[in-house]
Formats: sequence, structure tokens, C-alpha cells
Amino acid sequence: MTVSSNEIASIVQQTLQQYQPYRGFTFRSPSITVTGGHCVNQLGEVLNELGATHVLLVADKVVHQLGLTKGCETAITFAGLGLTVFSDVDGEPDSTLIAHGQTCLEQSNADFVLGIGGGSALDAAKAIAVIGDYRGPLTQLKVGGIASRRVGLGAIPTTAGTGSEVTDITVIKDITLDIKVPVKGPALVPDLALLDPALMLNVPAGITAATGIDTLTHAIESYVSRLSNPLSKAYAYHSIETLIKALPIAVGYGHDMDKRYDMAVAAYKAGLAFSNAGLGLTHAIAHQIGARYHLAHGVANAILLPYVMAFNALSCEAGYAEVANALGVSREGMTSREKCRAAILAVRQLVMDLGLPTSLTGVGMTESDFPQLAEQAMKDICLQGNPRQVTPSQIITLLKQVMGGQLPEGYC
Ligand SMILES: [Fe+2]
Repeated sequence: MTVSSNEIASIVQQTLQQYQPYRGFTFRSPSITVTGGHCVNQLGEVLNELGATHVLLVADKVVHQLGLTKGCETAITFAGLGLTVFSDVDGEPDSTLIAHGQTCLEQSNADFVLGIGGGSALDAAKAIAVIGDYRGPLTQLKVGGIASRRVGLGAIPTTAGTGSEVTDITVIKDITLDIKVPVKGPALVPDLALLDPALMLNVPAGITAATGIDTLTHAIESYVSRLSNPLSKAYAYHSIETLIKALPIAVGYGHDMDKRYDMAVAAYKAGLAFSNAGLGLTHAIAHQIGARYHLAHGVANAILLPYVMAFNALSCEAGYAEVANALGVSREGMTSREKCRAAILAVRQLVMDLGLPTSLTGVGMTESDFPQLAEQAMKDICLQGNPRQVTPSQIITLLKQVMGGQLPEGYC
């Protein structure tokens, strides 16, 4: 009897699957994290430790114009490393920008890509670093398409929100197809994350509020995600505890370095949590609404999160009760159901206190848009982690609630 190579491969695959660890998990994070006010001064030392000789600095255009990259540039050159600055990131990165970045990487012979700026600059840096010599369509890469890279990668966020400095994902718009392509893989986790709150002191209150609620959404969605693990839950829980104390003050008084530091760490921890545990229905819908109505990602999350929590409560009441503990709104003698309700109402109250909208009124949406939005949300990768199964008609019902600004009965 002869056995084909395909049959052998199939037998090996089945054998390996039998030995998948039960309840096991893999957790990825940057190998070096540096934090603290003005810690950007330590950059040269850390880059030397990582073996970098020439750095391609990928920066937001505005961040560069404001002079926020100066400290990095000085630290890099003072350490005797080569430096090339690519400061063309202006808004969400697309395939044209990434192609320019790739050319810049090749021509500079840089062996380390360092992103500095908001989520867009960090996403661009990550894409440039991992795509390397690749010249094919982005859609061929997609999820799981990137396992290795040939250059080092670092990230310095100037807003506290996306957690892109630690996550294994980047989103690039494919110009030819006019779609956003999420690219995900272990190689997208930076080697270095540097959190310097001094770079965040001048972020406007509105952006601080929206990016802060994005962080809260990462923490809450990953905490109750079906893909969560003990480490991701620990990071998520502590992110919520830190954020609830720091965010209102950071929005109200942006120059509070302590609270900016706390928010940077909260965003980092929430990023670690969701990068290793996934997200949920809030992000699945927010991605569709943000793209279609040009709504800032954090604002879309702020509007949706309490409604999605009320929907999910059926299957994760205990998880939200623990979230209530982290938010500091549970009291002795409360039942699990009461704590769950308290968590949802606390999130809604925080959104209102920060001056963010609580309904979709005024974004240009009509009920006739709902079926298509629901279908698109059902295909979003973030739905995999949601603790409750959902149908398109349930998403439509939820969108009607959000449109009217009324939480379901029992949460008013
Ligand atoms: Fe997000």
C-alpha cells in the first residue's frame, strides 16, 4: 500500500490537533517596555540593546511639525545610530503610503523601524516593518499572513488609546480596492514600546476622551471575551481600575503628568489584553459605523459600548459584575445582576461626563442602512470574541436602540 504525501500531511495534522493544549494559551508582548516622563531620553540606550544601527523614524506629519519627534531624533543620533525620518503619515495609512515607506526603508538601509504618533503612525510603522520586500496585494496578507520580519520594530504612542504599541495587528487601506485590510500576526508585536506621558500633555480634551473610551472598550471587551485567558484578564482588569480614576482628570486637566502616565499605562495594558484575547460586538459594529459615517473610532465605541454590554449581559453577567468591581461601583450586598447593571450605567455615565455622544442621532444614519451594517458587522473579525452569539436581526434591534439613545428596559 502506498500513502500519498497529502495523506501523510493530513494524518500529521490530525495527530497534532489531538495534542492541542486544553485551556492553554499563548501570550505575546514587546520584549522591552520603557515608561516614565521624559523616558524618550533612554531611547538610544535601548536601541543599542536591541542591536539597531540605523533607525527609520515613521512619524505623524503633525507630530513632526509640532517638534514632538525632536527628543527621539536627538537620543538616536547621540547614541551614534543612523537616522532617516519618514514623516508623511497624514491620517489613516493606505497602500500608497506604505509603498513609499518601503522604498524609504530600502534606500536608507535601516535595520529598525520606529513609529511615533497616534494609532495611524504606529500602524504605518508596523506595516512598513513587516511587509519589507513584499510587493503583492495587501489582501493576500490579511489575518495570520505575517509571521516574521527582517528589521526591528518599536512604537512610541503620543495618544493613549489604540494600544498599537503592543498589539499584533495593523489596519491599512488598500487604495485599489477601497477597503481597509486588517493585517495580523506575531511579527506585528513591536520589540520595543516606549510610553512617555510628556509627549501627551497637549492632546486636546475631546481626543483624550475619545481615545480613553477606546481603551476602556478594549479592556471591557477583552475581559469578557470568549478568547480571554488569565493574563489577558489581569491586564484588562487593572487597565479598567487605572482608567476610571485617571481619564476624567486627564480630560479635565490635560497637563496632569501623573494622569497622562496612568492613561498611557492603561492603554498599554488594554492593548496587551485585547491583542491576546480579542474584542467583541462593540468593535465589530464600530468598524462599520466609523468607516461609513466618518465617525472617530473612540466616539463610535463610546456610543455603542453600554448598549452592547446590555445585550451581552445575558451570557456574561458575572464578568460585568467583576468589571463593576474594577470600576469601583459595586457595593457590599449587591447581587451579581445588580453589579452588572451598575457597570453598564457607570460606563454610560462616564461617556456623558466626558461630553461624548450617547446616541447615533445626527451622524447621518437611517434605518434603511441597518441591514447592510448588520451584515458587515457579522463578518468582522472582532465578533469572534463576543460572549453572546448574535444574529443580524439582533444587531438591527440594537442599532434602533442606539439611534433612539435609550438603553433597553432595566437599564434606564
Ligand atoms: Fe479600538
